[in-house]
Amino acid sequence: MHLLIPAAGSGSRMKAGKNKLLLKLNGESILYWTLKAVFLSEKVSWVGIIGQPYDKSEIINSIKEFSKKIHWINGGDTRQESVRNGVNNLPNNATKVLIHDGARCLIKPELIDKCFNELEDNDAVILAVKVTDTIKVVNKNRIIKETPNRNFLWAAQTPQGFLVTQLKKAHQKATENNWDVTDDASLFELLKWPVKIIEGNSTNIKITSPIDLKIASLFLTNS
Ligand code: CTP
Ligand code: MG
Repeated sequence: MHLLIPAAGSGSRMKAGKNKLLLKLNGESILYWTLKAVFLSEKVSWVGIIGQPYDKSEIINSIKEFSKKIHWINGGDTRQESVRNGVNNLPNNATKVLIHDGARCLIKPELIDKCFNELEDNDAVILAVKVTDTIKVVNKNRIIKETPNRNFLWAAQTPQGFLVTQLKKAHQKATENNWDVTDDASLFELLKWPVKIIEGNSTNIKITSPIDLKIASLFLTNS
């Protein structure tokens, strides 16, 4: 199974002045912990890291023993562009692919395997968790427009898994139509292609703001 890791962001919300994936968490980079989980998965046999050329040497150094096992792909200005580059640079024998954000370093290897297994019966799958907050849709003046029924709300995570041919096609359509999305499942939704939800785990947070580093540190210490 092929797995791509988008790691080409700037981490602007982290306000660290550098790619947040290079920040230290319990002694190693965030990306190191992501790779540790990925390589513990029984199903993953090929891993591509999508990164900015200017981060390459620092990233390679920070992932230590995994540096020899990964394939490097240059990223783009947006996550969408980074994933598009990743998909277009997969080896020819890749039929299915999992996309997993470098920033989700607490992913459990078993959940990566679960995504892989569900891809046997579905063409597109994503890990997600039930939303526990009551979500408000607002207008530009922050006046509430509606409150969607929580029973139908799920918070999307990664891994997200797809057939390579379909994911390539979806990205091509996105370029043609100027679609601008924050995950790959969104492209399938715009194309009206079904995407199956797999129930994940609320510890699979995306490291986004400084508080997330503290939470992740606790989880890593206790797991
Ligand atoms: N990503 C990427 N290429 C980009 C932007 C983001 O590969 N041009 C990756 C990030 O490195 C991250 C994942 O996509 O692993 C999810 O993005 P996000 O959490 O938004 O990370 P950043 O874009 O780095 O953070 P911010 O939005 O706060 O700037
Ligand atoms: Mg971002």
